[in-house]
Amino acid sequence: MEFPNNFLWGGATAANQIEGAYNVDGKGLSIQDVMPKGIMAPPTEVPTADNLKLDAIDFYHRYAEDIAMFAEMGFQVFRFSIAWSRIFPRGDELEPNEAGLAFYDRVLDELEKHGIEPLVTLSHYETPLALAREYGGWRNRELIQFFERFAETVFRRYRGRIRYWLTFNEINSILHQPFLSGGIETPRSELTETELYQAIHHELVASGRVTELAHEIDPDNKVGCMVIGIPRYPLTPDPADAYQALYESQLDIAFGDIHCRGAYPGYLLRHFREHGVELDITEEDRRALSNTVDFVSFSYYMSVCESADPDVQVRGQGNITGGIPNPKLEASEWGWQIDPVGLRTLLNTYWDRWQKPLFIVENGLGATDVLVEGPSGPTVHDDYRIQYMNDHLVQVGEAIKDGVEIMGYTSWGCIDLVSASTAQMSKRYGFIYVDRDDTGAGTLQRYRKDSFYWYKDVIASRGKALKRR
Ligand code: BG6
Repeated sequence: MEFPNNFLWGGATAANQIEGAYNVDGKGLSIQDVMPKGIMAPPTEVPTADNLKLDAIDFYHRYAEDIAMFAEMGFQVFRFSIAWSRIFPRGDELEPNEAGLAFYDRVLDELEKHGIEPLVTLSHYETPLALAREYGGWRNRELIQFFERFAETVFRRYRGRIRYWLTFNEINSILHQPFLSGGIETPRSELTETELYQAIHHELVASGRVTELAHEIDPDNKVGCMVIGIPRYPLTPDPADAYQALYESQLDIAFGDIHCRGAYPGYLLRHFREHGVELDITEEDRRALSNTVDFVSFSYYMSVCESADPDVQVRGQGNITGGIPNPKLEASEWGWQIDPVGLRTLLNTYWDRWQKPLFIVENGLGATDVLVEGPSGPTVHDDYRIQYMNDHLVQVGEAIKDGVEIMGYTSWGCIDLVSASTAQMSKRYGFIYVDRDDTGAGTLQRYRKDSFYWYKDVIASRGKALKRR
């Protein structure tokens, strides 16, 4: 099938996973600088040498070379985040750091040179550390104004250069990972639901406010929310399992409902009532929430099952939330279950529900790659990645035929980067191999994998090179 002409093809990253230069040109620390083990262990007091994110893949100095390789693949869009702590090193300053702003000017120059559209995430798991440690993260209402100041600064600085914005990466992840997602250091198990939902509420209000601001500053700006897309199937045909799956999905989908409909949905208000959740919501907050998004973006890696049976409590590995493993599906080396059809299901579900254009801003396979000698230099024979992406993109094509409006597809980690959950280099997603290992050793040389040439063909043929299996 041929994808529509306006469908944008590209790749996605996040500042903390690629840039490195964690303390260069006035950058302040972010929560990532104290997460050497990702979400696998509690944060450290100060940055430690074993934290691969401090140098990451040095995109900060190699962006021109990397963007040229994206252009060689035919990218029309590149998703990256602007590191908040590069622009406001502590997060609470009144004036921005010019050197940080200048870095993204240089990145935009390169993208423009190659005709690649930027898609920018404002907050991708990189809250400034001072806001986490001195203010208590998003539990504190003051973060709303700090975030607004950051957003306003970059909206004005890059006006006319960046059209597509995402507010909070995987905003629903805060339910499961309060530090990563909300800069809240108190362990999840010690937070009350009221504390957690109050922090979520602050993020949602901030998201609404900056959506309004983006539109005021430039009516051409298009703002999207970003959620973890994870279909939850009933483990058995038992209606109780089906309802449990719906209920668990609602806790995720509520974030999309609020962003698209501008108010809390009834099922969530009932959850609040029945779980003793009492929130401080002002009239001004309600007005902020009413600023709905222009489009919905999401990550998609896997699906899970849910069960109403309290004896079935095995939770498998997975993207932030996890769930009960599906006996019908295979899993990646890291235990994330592979389900291409789930992507079509999700696209149809979201489209039916919100009737807003959808953007798939993350999808891909984290796998161990082996660098081998090829006829034109070192390469990786990553047929497993090609198969994964081929099968997912075929389902995207099906959803387009179903009538779903899809803006584009940015595969996750289009160049190898440091994993968010495990902080490893060895969990690779890229079309481009980066020579760095889990100890931090390596030349940082970039090499084209087999999937690089495959994706190039898929983009050039607008999807006609995809194979139905
Ligand atoms: C999403 C995040 O959770 O999935 C990314 O938005 C992350 O930051 C990606 O890298 C893949 O997860 P992981 O844990 O394999 O890096």
